[in-house]
Amino acid sequence: MAAITDMVDLEIQDGVAVVRIDNPPVNALSEGVRNGLFEAVQKADADDNAKAILIICSGRTYIAGADIKEFGKPHRGVVLFNVQDVIEGASKPVVSTIHGTCLGGGLETAICCHYRVAVASARFGFPEVKLGILPGAGGTQRLPRIVGVEKALEMMVNGNPVGANFALENGLIDEIVDDLFEGGMAFAKKIVEEGRPLVRVRDANEKLEEAKKDPELFNRFRKKVARKTRGFDAPESIIQCVEDTLIKSFDDGIQGERDRFGVLIKGIKSEAQRYYFFAERQANKIPDVPKDTETIPIKKVGMIGAGTMGGGISMNFLSKGTPVTIVESTQEALDRGLGVVRKNYLRGVKSGRLTEADVDKLMGLLTPSLSLEDLADCDMVIEAVFENIDLKKEVFTKLDAIVKEGAILATNSSALDVNAIAAVTKRPEWVVGTHFFSPANIMRLLEVVRAEKTSKTVLATVMALAKRLGKIPVVSGVCPGFIGNRILFKRGVQAQKLIYEGAMPWDVDDVIYDFGFPMGPFAMSDLAGLDIGWDVKTSKGETLRDRLCEMDRRGQKTGAGYYNYDPETRAKTPEPKVEELILEFSEKMGKTRREISNEEILQRCIYPMINEGAKILEEGISQRPSDIDVVWVNGYGWPVYRGGPMFYADTVGLDKVLGKLKEFQEQDNDDFWQPSPLIEKLVAEGKGFKDMA
Ligand code: CAA
Ligand code: NAI
Repeated sequence: MAAITDMVDLEIQDGVAVVRIDNPPVNALSEGVRNGLFEAVQKADADDNAKAILIICSGRTYIAGADIKEFGKPHRGVVLFNVQDVIEGASKPVVSTIHGTCLGGGLETAICCHYRVAVASARFGFPEVKLGILPGAGGTQRLPRIVGVEKALEMMVNGNPVGANFALENGLIDEIVDDLFEGGMAFAKKIVEEGRPLVRVRDANEKLEEAKKDPELFNRFRKKVARKTRGFDAPESIIQCVEDTLIKSFDDGIQGERDRFGVLIKGIKSEAQRYYFFAERQANKIPDVPKDTETIPIKKVGMIGAGTMGGGISMNFLSKGTPVTIVESTQEALDRGLGVVRKNYLRGVKSGRLTEADVDKLMGLLTPSLSLEDLADCDMVIEAVFENIDLKKEVFTKLDAIVKEGAILATNSSALDVNAIAAVTKRPEWVVGTHFFSPANIMRLLEVVRAEKTSKTVLATVMALAKRLGKIPVVSGVCPGFIGNRILFKRGVQAQKLIYEGAMPWDVDDVIYDFGFPMGPFAMSDLAGLDIGWDVKTSKGETLRDRLCEMDRRGQKTGAGYYNYDPETRAKTPEPKVEELILEFSEKMGKTRREISNEEILQRCIYPMINEGAKILEEGISQRPSDIDVVWVNGYGWPVYRGGPMFYADTVGLDKVLGKLKEFQEQDNDDFWQPSPLIEKLVAEGKGFKDMA
């Protein structure tokens, strides 16, 4: 075997030139891979002993895309376009044999080959949109020519991969093979024997002609994705590139793609999304818990509480085939909880994702119980009873006496002191917080709350478990509200103050929505329910919330809260009575209402979050600034194209943020605005949060 570069080898085997890429972990198209492919394919093309060329990757995957680490740096080595030209222009058939994830530049390389085969587990996709860019190496021009315009738009604008069956049905691959190498070799030889033509996707126009018959296609697609793509730049650029396939030559289309790619890659939104890609992966890492830390197998799970969270959390395990025993305090609550879980799964039947038999099988893994004793042999028990510290302590005291040694005892508390909960047991090192977000079967964020004595084995196990469940875990220390809710609380304080000083809830919500959140704080309160922690028996009408709940405006579930909700469409409209009530409270508080600018609303909502994030870092509650961003993007709908609160702070300029914090502090004469010493220090040193990594 001849090494072409340290990442690419070439060997002639049985009349086939095998070009092998080996660039762990994901065979990204790094400089060495591009240079190697360029040279290897040319050599193979010139070698009379080879009748075909087979491109194959070592390790766990085919090329998973461009090397994202090279983005934003000066270009070195052969450009991908030239690699593609030698592949597509080769005088003998070039075949890619594909496994793992064939993504981005990887798929763009594969579709320059004349043929493609893949193992059944392979996945194909263009995830560029998730990095704020577009497939910039011909993908927007070639994919529609293979799978058709509509499917190409779907694949590139939503960015999710498709499986081998879809790929085969839609011409993205030519065959599914059992064995990556043997299957690829056999296919390459077959092509030669049969004298099949060299298929060059760039010349295939049939699918484009079909699309021309449907002039409404693009507008229909734009409407369909409008809500999901709001605020992002890349989706519209991708759509325009695909439109070009119908009106421009292939080469002009490529030029348009390049130009748009150039604009996107330089934009702050793509920078934020690329930063976020690595932030999410970084969040998995705990500096003092090495990769090889021992983990324990979680084969049986206990769940306490079958309410909103208990049911949703259980579904995560059931869906992965892990049995769950769920304990409630009454038969009625148990029946209701199980009913909700079944109903949620049945939705999957309606949408075609599951069959009734699947649902029965899933429900068969869930054992209902009224006795904690039934949790004795679980490997992990998660408590999700009411948010009450005394109740939680009582539950953990009992668990300590019942559950086998070496099992993890977790609490789903969203704000309470996990150290205090751990302290009631004789095994605090086995106690951890697992703060799932609602709806727990859907939301991907998991705050892993590391208490003072939580062992490394427990942490490593929960991090690995989270990944298995498809969650994104972020480690938080113990403090009221942990990372996410602690920051949320600060935004909430200002949102409330703003409405007494002059804004209306819809003014605040509009600003936050326009910033990119799916909804503002008041709409969010309506969704969660204004009556969480409110009691009709003790309500004295002292706060706005008391008054709203007393009027049975308890949020979306009662059809009204800060807003009125249309019973059919759930569309929200402002309510004059709420406005009156707010004016009444303003007066009672002695506030002179004034016009508040959108800029002030934004700064007063967002800057306290940044300040609190900095305090969280100072206290060591969060391991790094980017972890805070991962929490906010995944758990609270912070727009990923703004990176997260800490990334955003750097884009605004920490000195500007500090200046405003001081200005508001002076204006309000309130400690609320006390700037974090960390921000003061970073500003003094001319640094940002990014310099802390
Ligand atoms: N470039 C550089 N590093 C990458 C990478 C890439 N394209 N993809 C993954 N990595 C790194 C990760 O950062 C991670 O590194 P650490 O172990 O140091 O943290 C490592 O590879 C493993 O990644 P994951 O933990 O994500 O592994 P996984 O098995 O869960 O997922 C994957 C594998 C599906 C390939 C996933 O990593 C992924 O989605 N990667 C991004 C793929 C992508 O976006 N490709 C398009 C790139 S843009 C492009 O190609 C533009 C163009 O048109 C030319
Ligand atoms: P919930 O009120 O819907 O459910 C709690 C369930 O616990 C009830 O069904 C109740 O009967 C049961 N329960 C109470 N005492 C029990 C006991 N001793 N033994 C067995 N079961 C008992 O509450 P929810 O919303 O599910 O919250 C549970 C926990 O999750 C709380 O700590 C909450 O703070 C936290 N959480 C809630 C989120 C949410 O959005 N609802 C989000 C994240 C965390």
